[in-house]
Amino acid sequence: MAKINKAVFPVAGLGTRFLPVTKASPKEMLPIVDKPLIQYAAEEAEQAGATQLVFITGRHKRSIEDHFDKAPELEAELKDAGKDKLLNIVRTILPDHVNCIYLRQPEALGLGHAVLCAKPVIGNEPFAILLADDLIDNAGKGVCEQMADLHARSGGASILSVQEVPPSETHKYGIVETETQPDGTLRVTSMVEKPKPEDAPSNLAVVGRYLLTPAIFEKLEQTQVGAGGEIQLTDAIAALLDEEVVIAHPFEGKRYDCGSKEGYLQATVELALNHPELGDDFRSYLKSLVL
Ligand code: UTP
Repeated sequence: MAKINKAVFPVAGLGTRFLPVTKASPKEMLPIVDKPLIQYAAEEAEQAGATQLVFITGRHKRSIEDHFDKAPELEAELKDAGKDKLLNIVRTILPDHVNCIYLRQPEALGLGHAVLCAKPVIGNEPFAILLADDLIDNAGKGVCEQMADLHARSGGASILSVQEVPPSETHKYGIVETETQPDGTLRVTSMVEKPKPEDAPSNLAVVGRYLLTPAIFEKLEQTQVGAGGEIQLTDAIAALLDEEVVIAHPFEGKRYDCGSKEGYLQATVELALNHPELGDDFRSYLKSLVL
């Protein structure tokens, strides 16, 4: 299995679509059943071998740090009460061999700017980026691991996870144009942020999973403010296309856009239905509602 050592989690966004809940607490701490979004993303990166989780945080994001920290009082209480199962859940949120690094993005100047904040700790190695509000459910191999495998197979290319979207939704995503290579992979030839349907080069949308080479940092440093007044990761990747191979990866798994209320509710319902303890009762409850 190919591995990736470092994973970056940009969590400094304002999460305005979820106001008022995101006024004082991070979008990434919204729970899907019993785990916050950020934990699903961290577990996906750990499954791909990541041992250093780099969080790009901002104001009001302290609870993310607390979530991955030890909780001695809580652990002592659970231990005294003999609640071993819960104690284990709390203790294994972060495996022992995994470290968290927190960097602050002083202002929410865009995803590209957030990723650039990670430069001092990434060094000269490829790294994954996971946007926790894209929850991707996969019974087998997580998308981060799928990207690590493709990166290794392709001799070190950058990877963008993509999904087909209806033309009416291209304005919400970075959209790629691709060329199929002899080995079947899709080489990205151009990329544009949030195009109108008539300007979109395809309907392949980049979702919140990337595996990039460190060459991206130089491009980010040169990137000017783009769509929405933000420094866009898409623009920096577009600048990389002439110099490096970038591959679009139509990932395996079901993606929920948990940055939107609809996607968040869909993820909640579907993961609850699949939950080992809740699933059966919740299914009966839903049936009683709709019949
Ligand atoms: P979004 O575009 O979803 O923005 O950012 P947002 O602020 O989180 O949410 P809305 O649109 O206002 O509701 C995509 C990802 O990039 C991070 C966000 O935390 C999210 O994971 N991000 C965005 C940053 O870390 N910094 C930024 O300046 C912007």
